[in-house]
Amino acid sequence: MRIDSHPILRFEEQEDIEFIFEGKKVVGKMGDTIASALVNLGINVFSLSIKLKRPRGFYCAIGNCSSCKMIVDGKPNVKTCMTKLKAGMVIERQADKGVYK
Ligand code: FES
Repeated sequence: MRIDSHPILRFEEQEDIEFIFEGKKVVGKMGDTIASALVNLGINVFSLSIKLKRPRGFYCAIGNCSSCKMIVDGKPNVKTCMTKLKAGMVIERQADKGVYK
């Protein structure tokens, strides 16, 4: 969900950015964080907890909780709420402590 209009604030139309999520081409907007782009697409599960494999997602949105960590361009443990989306990024859910490949 994206806020398109607001009674006080103005939002200028932003350029589309294509990126890959779980092997599928999807589209975000310039200025999005990875997390905000995924939430806008209705994707709320970003990772699974290490031990019990419970779903984790967008929580604090300020880089404190690590609930939003994902694998970005092969790099694990990226806090997606603090990372700006770039064209061509490859984003994957993370289900372990994070292993560099
Ligand atoms: S949502 Fe808490 S660190 Fe990203």
